[in-house]
Amino acid sequence: EPEIITSKDKMRNWSRAMRAQGKTIGLVPTMGYLHKGHLSLVSEAHQHADLIVVSIYVNPGQFSTSEDLSTYPSDFHGDIQKLMSVPGRVDVVFNPYDLYDYGRVRDSKGTEKCENVGVVSCLEERGAGHETWIRVEKLEKGLCGKSRPVFFKGVATVVSKLFNIVEPDVAIFGKKDYQQWRLICRMVRDLDFAVQIIGSEITREDDGLAMSSRNVYLSPEERQKALSINRSLSKAKHAAENGQISCKSLQDSIIFAIEEAGGNVDYAEIVDQETLEVVEEIKAPVVICVAACFGKTRLIDNMEITT
Ligand code: PAJ
Repeated sequence: EPEIITSKDKMRNWSRAMRAQGKTIGLVPTMGYLHKGHLSLVSEAHQHADLIVVSIYVNPGQFSTSEDLSTYPSDFHGDIQKLMSVPGRVDVVFNPYDLYDYGRVRDSKGTEKCENVGVVSCLEERGAGHETWIRVEKLEKGLCGKSRPVFFKGVATVVSKLFNIVEPDVAIFGKKDYQQWRLICRMVRDLDFAVQIIGSEITREDDGLAMSSRNVYLSPEERQKALSINRSLSKAKHAAENGQISCKSLQDSIIFAIEEAGGNVDYAEIVDQETLEVVEEIKAPVVICVAACFGKTRLIDNMEITT
C-alpha cells in the first residue's frame, strides 16, 4: 500500500530522506479519478526512477470561475485501489488538502471571504492570498488557451509548487494533454528546474477513444459519435504520411468528419511539435491537435506526425 502524505513538510522531508539514501524519485501529477491513462504514467515512471510519488490534487488555480470545480469527479478510495493494481509499487500518494493553505481572506466572524476583484481563476475568487503566477507566455495562448484563458497559468503554477515540494528527479506527463506537456517542458528549461520531464504516449480505449476522466459524461450515442475524433485524426495522419503536406485540406477534412458525426469542433490545428505554432505545410515534425464538444462534454485528442 502506498503511504498517504497530506502535509507539504512531510512530503518534502520524505523526499529528502530518500534522496539522502541515493534513491531517485519520479512524480506523476494528477487530479485523481484515475483511469488506465494515468496508470500508464506510473508504469512509465518506473522506467526512470527508483521511487514513485503520485500526487492527487484538484487544483483550483486552473479552473475558471465559470467552470465547475465543485463537480470535478473524485474517488480517492478507488484511486488507491487502482494504484495498488499496477505492476510496480507506488511509494507515496501525495494528497494535500490544500496547496494554497496560506493567508486566506477571512471576515470578522472568521468565515472565509471571497474577494473577487475581477480576476479569473477559482483560486483568485476565493482570495487565497496567492499572487505569484507562472506564465509561459506564447505556449499558453494557442489551442486550448483560447477557450481556457486561465488554465495554463494555473497548471504551470501548481506544477511548480509540486516540484518545489516533492523535489522529484523525473516527472511524467501524458501526451494526451500535448500543450500542457510542452508548456511544462518549456517552463522547466526557462526556469532551470532540476527535473527531467518525460512525455508518455496516449492510452486509448479498444475502439480508439483517448481515455479521459470526462468520458464518463458521454451518453452511449455521444460516445459513439466521439470516435470520429480518433478516426479523422488517423485518416489525416495516414494521408500526411503518404505525401499530403497541405495542412488546410487535412484540417478541413477533420472538421468535416467530426461535425458530420454531430460534434462541435473548438479547434483542429496542425502545429509544430515543439513551438505549437500553426504550420501550413508539413515539413518538420508536427502534431494535429483537436478539441471538440459532444453534448456538453469537451474532449481533446492529438496525433504526432513525424514524416
Ligand atoms: P489529470 O487530468 O488528472 O491528468 C494527469 C496526467 O494524466 C496528465 O499528465 C495527463 O496528460 C495524463 N493523462 C490523462 N489521460 C491520459 C491518457 N489517455 N493517456 C496518457 N496520459 C493521460 O493534467 C492534469 O491532471 C492537471 O492539469 C495536472 C498536471 C495534475 C496539474 O493540476
